[in-house]
Amino acid sequence: MKDQYQTISEQYSHARKDDVTNFLETPSVQSALGDVAGASAVDYACGTGHYSRLLKRLGARNVLGVDLSPAMIETARQEENEKSLGIVYKVADAATMAVFGSFDVATAVFLFNYAEDEQTLNRMFQSVAANIKPDARLVAVVPNPDFINGRRDTLPYGFFLEEIGKGPMHLRVRMTFVGAEEFSIEFTQWSRFAYDSALEQAGFADVQWTPFAVSQQGIERYGEEFWKAILDNPKSIVLSARRKAV
Ligand SMILES: C[S@@+](CC[C@H](N)C(=O)[O-])C[C@H]1O[C@@H](n2cnc3c(N)ncnc32)[C@H](O)[C@@H]1O
Repeated sequence: MKDQYQTISEQYSHARKDDVTNFLETPSVQSALGDVAGASAVDYACGTGHYSRLLKRLGARNVLGVDLSPAMIETARQEENEKSLGIVYKVADAATMAVFGSFDVATAVFLFNYAEDEQTLNRMFQSVAANIKPDARLVAVVPNPDFINGRRDTLPYGFFLEEIGKGPMHLRVRMTFVGAEEFSIEFTQWSRFAYDSALEQAGFADVQWTPFAVSQQGIERYGEEFWKAILDNPKSIVLSARRKAV
């Protein structure tokens, strides 16, 4: 699988400190996670470790972060070396990876949009199911299947998304991070049907699609009006599900 992040791990880490991450996405993931105190957690597509660190700060007992990109894992390990939280990071492809444990909870923030085809998407969900306990939960963030690409009202949030291809179950999208250092990534905006079917085949139930909500701090910092465009056309959404007990 192609590693798009080989040369942009530091830029990505920097871009991860933006307002949408801080005031919209992270609080929404935290709220979906609920109480993880004492839990063992696996963070799929951990990247530079943003959510691995959140899980640890929320009290998870042990956290394993896995990512395809050696460069992203290297940046995550540097942060861990500078401020140790006890997180273990591994390079692995979520679509083919081994079973590393039987975890209480899994996160996968922007993993599934890297599945190149439906078979790979199915394998990613099967990998999550194989690495978590029965009844354990997956909390993912995925590109919103209903997002309307090409609108410039996303620019105040620091990005622009454009459609660059399509198939029966997906759109192919380029996301450009605008600002001092502009860079782009490409990913797949899967349909709801593709997710629902992959989740079912991998043995997940209680599927929930939860829109992001702005934190109180975000409203105090920028006011309600600032958030209107992204709440009206949300770029991403929380997708959570429970592995069925067999
Ligand atoms: C947009 S970044 C998200 C990183 C992190 N979850 C976050 O929220 O900051 C997407 C990450 O997915 C990783 N990735 C893509 N395909 C993957 C795969 N097949 N297995 C594991 N990680 C993958 C990339 O290397 C990259 O670090």
